[in-house]
Amino acid sequence: MRRCGGKWYNACMTTSSLLTCLAVATRAAHEAGVLLASRAGRPRRVQTKRSAIDLVTEVDRAAERLIHRAVTRRFPEHGFMGEERTRANPDAPLQWIVDPIDGTTNFVHGVPVFAVSIALTLRGRPLVGVIYDPMRRETFTAVKGRGTRLNGRLVRVSSTRRLAGSLLSTGFSARFREHPATYLRWFAAFQLRCHAVRRIGCTTLSLAYVACGREEGFFERDLWPWDIAAGVLLVQEAHGRISDLDGSPARLDSGRLLASNGRIHREMIAVLRNPTLRPR
Ligand code: IPD
Ligand code: CA
Ligand code: CA
Repeated sequence: MRRCGGKWYNACMTTSSLLTCLAVATRAAHEAGVLLASRAGRPRRVQTKRSAIDLVTEVDRAAERLIHRAVTRRFPEHGFMGEERTRANPDAPLQWIVDPIDGTTNFVHGVPVFAVSIALTLRGRPLVGVIYDPMRRETFTAVKGRGTRLNGRLVRVSSTRRLAGSLLSTGFSARFREHPATYLRWFAAFQLRCHAVRRIGCTTLSLAYVACGREEGFFERDLWPWDIAAGVLLVQEAHGRISDLDGSPARLDSGRLLASNGRIHREMIAVLRNPTLRPR
């Protein structure tokens, strides 16, 4: 194994090795998806984590174990960070970042809107991303420099030019109750200025929908790296734009994300800065 200097990406991550990573991740996401689809709405045990609205089930943990086994069997030298606390090689430059069920609240209640999200990152930058919706059998994939695909077909962001003609989505994180006013103000301000704001309870699918042109923009705060690592690559590779909520460069660990088709990005930043309830 080579020492990893700045040349790691060029030396070790050729297109063919990224495609191998993608294949392993896609297979793992599909296997986890079979488990999720068979248990949706019927978990045996629902517990809370960081807050009363932060849910986890035995299926989240089983799906994470399955993905961890699949990935580390093939890439034992890579790092792994799963939402349900599976960790391996925390100092490795290449890290797998995994959300075994994004949309656990929907999953618990039997609402069929949840997904598996798997990303491979190099020093915090995503190189490979897979988001799998097992209920609709939609597989969204991206590899750095090679575009975004939905079930194998290249997709891109929408060409809508104005916020007024856009469909947006957002999420209310598990920390919503700490600052409800901020979330609700943004929600109302955008709802007054676009076709509608959706809140589907699954950040990864919201980002996948921006990438494939079903929605024009997404914003949220208090996110985790596993909520967004695959989705930001999907949006970037589909020719969209991502940033922090104020327009500064996005970071997976900042908790804040604005994603859009690029054309409405500035309008969205202006509303986030000044979320008045009286549209001009
Ligand atoms: C949550 C969902 C939700 C979003 C939260 C996420 P989880 O992920 O994506 O839509 O608003 O911020 O944490 O807990 O279901 O994996
Ligand atoms: Ca999540
Ligand atoms: Ca989750």
